[in-house]
Amino acid sequence: MNRKEFFARVGFGAAAILVPACIAGLATSCQSEGSPSVAPSNVDFNVDVSSGSLATNGGFMVSNGIVIARTLTGSYLAVSASCTHQGTNVNYDSTGNKFVCPNHGAQFSSTGAVTQGPASSNLKMYNTALSGNTLRIYS
Ligand code: FES
Repeated sequence: MNRKEFFARVGFGAAAILVPACIAGLATSCQSEGSPSVAPSNVDFNVDVSSGSLATNGGFMVSNGIVIARTLTGSYLAVSASCTHQGTNVNYDSTGNKFVCPNHGAQFSSTGAVTQGPASSNLKMYNTALSGNTLRIYS
């Protein structure tokens, strides 16, 4: 075996070891990251706030790709749920009245504006209107 043949075989051997590791998700450098989904458009739906997480101040839920939150003062917020960094659903932090991504720590104001990276784009904010126990979320 000459030098060229040796390196050709070693190179192929290394690839044969690494490719299955990537497929199995064993090599962290091979893992792919998620990507943010497009914020929902033409939104218009209702949720019942008489029970569940929106029945109490500080609660939140995700529906139709939108995180809907009830602030500690009882008003409602609605922003696109998918973090603009890599798509993880954000949570509502009622104490800070902000949205926080549990994945890499991005933070957004109550209106969806980025206040801390790594996200660089805002969440989309939606309108809310309460009628009795029915909360309308709309574009
Ligand atoms: S997915 Fe990375 S900060 Fe949200």
